[in-house]
Amino acid sequence: MNETQSRDLMTELAASLFARGFSVGSAGNISMRVEDGYLISPTNSSLGRLDPARISKLDQDFRHVGGDAPSKEVFMHRAFYVTRADAGAIVHLHSTLATAVACLPDVNLENPIPPLTPYFVMRIGRKMPVIPYFRPGDPAMEPAIRAAAPDARAVLLANHGPVVSGKTLLDAVYAAEELEEAAKLFLTLRGHSPRVLTPEQVNDLLETFG
Ligand code: 13P
Repeated sequence: MNETQSRDLMTELAASLFARGFSVGSAGNISMRVEDGYLISPTNSSLGRLDPARISKLDQDFRHVGGDAPSKEVFMHRAFYVTRADAGAIVHLHSTLATAVACLPDVNLENPIPPLTPYFVMRIGRKMPVIPYFRPGDPAMEPAIRAAAPDARAVLLANHGPVVSGKTLLDAVYAAEELEEAAKLFLTLRGHSPRVLTPEQVNDLLETFG
């Protein structure tokens, strides 16, 4: 995919997430690797109305080299790219139900959502920790994410929202959507004792689908 196609795909998928309420206002930011650096949504932009030509361009060292001023959370994306060689794209949303889980004090902060469904496991993996609260845009978040990311494709930022990586932009978007569905199931089933997938079933999924 060339850079023009990447810009068009990012615009299309961001608009789709916005249209379905996964982000509102100017919340959320999205990035992807391209041949000579990264594309990232501009700060204060609505995911519903990205302009492909104005998407921010960063060089390989995450310096702003083109387009509008980048998201104030470049460091959040960088934390995944530098710790996960397999990360080709990052999606950060304030999607309601994943954020609701990130507000609960009495969950397992190492891994709040159990393996309820195969697609949650296939897209997010074994582990998705909750990172302590930091003000949006606070660079102090970066070391906390860097510490977690080697073992986790996604994290929940306490009282803020999910950050999800994927091999491609489509993978990251699909994973962010699956996470929101898993959060919905988790909250629906709170107070019940749902059957969860066994460790053997989880291993089988990850060996089969990666
Ligand atoms: P930006 O508009 O700077 O990307 O910030 C949006 C956001 O989601 C903050 O958490």
